[in-house]
Amino acid sequence: MFDEFTNFVRDLYGSEGLIPLHEPTLAEKEKKYLIDVVNSSFVSSIGKSVTEFEKKISAYTGIKHAVAVVNGTSALHLALKISNVEENSEVITQSLSFVATCNAIRYCNAYPAFLDIDRENLTVKPETVKIFLDKFAEIRKDGHCWNKKSNRRISALLLVNTYGFPTDTLKIKKICSKFKIPVIEDCAESLGSFFRDNHCGINSDISTLSFNGNKIITTGGGGMILTNNSKIAKQAKHLSTTARISHRWEFAHDQVGYNYRMPNLNAALGLAQFQSLQKFLKSKRLIAKKYQKWGEEFGFNFVKENELSKSNYWLNCLILKSKKEKESFIKFTQKNGIITRPTWTPMHKLKIYKRSFKDNLKNTEWISDRLVNVPSSPIT
Ligand SMILES: Cc1ncc(COP(=O)(O)O)c(C=O)c1O
Repeated sequence: MFDEFTNFVRDLYGSEGLIPLHEPTLAEKEKKYLIDVVNSSFVSSIGKSVTEFEKKISAYTGIKHAVAVVNGTSALHLALKISNVEENSEVITQSLSFVATCNAIRYCNAYPAFLDIDRENLTVKPETVKIFLDKFAEIRKDGHCWNKKSNRRISALLLVNTYGFPTDTLKIKKICSKFKIPVIEDCAESLGSFFRDNHCGINSDISTLSFNGNKIITTGGGGMILTNNSKIAKQAKHLSTTARISHRWEFAHDQVGYNYRMPNLNAALGLAQFQSLQKFLKSKRLIAKKYQKWGEEFGFNFVKENELSKSNYWLNCLILKSKKEKESFIKFTQKNGIITRPTWTPMHKLKIYKRSFKDNLKNTEWISDRLVNVPSSPIT
């Protein structure tokens, strides 16, 4: 039965060789942009490609401000810091994510508290946030929201658009406002995904992107902080550039800042890639539809966007019937040169995070037993 899948993927990609999970599509344009930057000698933290790339992403997403940084993890770290996520506080987040989401919380010496995801679209639903907050949260005399059970201040909610699937952040933001909790959205995987025609991240206080080599567009390594709030954007730029006070030659710094600014060389690659974003999105949508159609015919279930959302289908997600079937599927496909991957080990199952505060994580465990990512590179 699995050989029908490998045959399908080989037909889809028109290849008898190794088929990767997601590889970057780099062409002459990318080479040209990089050569131009090398010739200009502005390869590092100063140069016009960085601001140009920020402007393109800001215009595309409709989010007013964009600050380019070295990767998605540093973007998350700064987003949390700026949201006043301080030592010993708690950040509510989902257990099913890439480890960077949780690590960024620990970089602030705060602790994650885990929420369950929805089985249908792999993200945290507004109802889940509401149930968690009604059950555990209270506003205390200091004006802050606290977790009654863990006795930690809840300093933020960090959502993830898992594999490109968006959630209803407008509803979630409304729920969190009542508890004075800022909302941060990890859009590392969801550039080009929309909910009710709004780009992911637009309703949150701060959102972040990743331009790692496996993402829909890449800068080699890179990330971005997005916000509609000009004060937050200023802070992000300041903190990402060693908190240096602006002066033509003096070196003075008013905070312990970070060297997180995206180099011009990476931004140039991003500008070239950005020109192909629509083409990549179109191709990925077509691939997703082909997987879904094939799945219907052969009895395989793929995760689909719902009627309110438009996913970028960054990585297609196949839901198998059991953990055993998942394991044999991965073994079979890998052996046959088709790269497939199980989803991440949920954070609450990792030794480093297993003692974290958590609510019921039934769906997270169900999904982690069954989900496999299948080849999803755009075909151009
Ligand atoms: C959900 C999620 N968050 C954060 C990151 C971290 O981004 P980066 O690798 O650019 O640091 C990634 C992926 O790489 C991711 O998939």
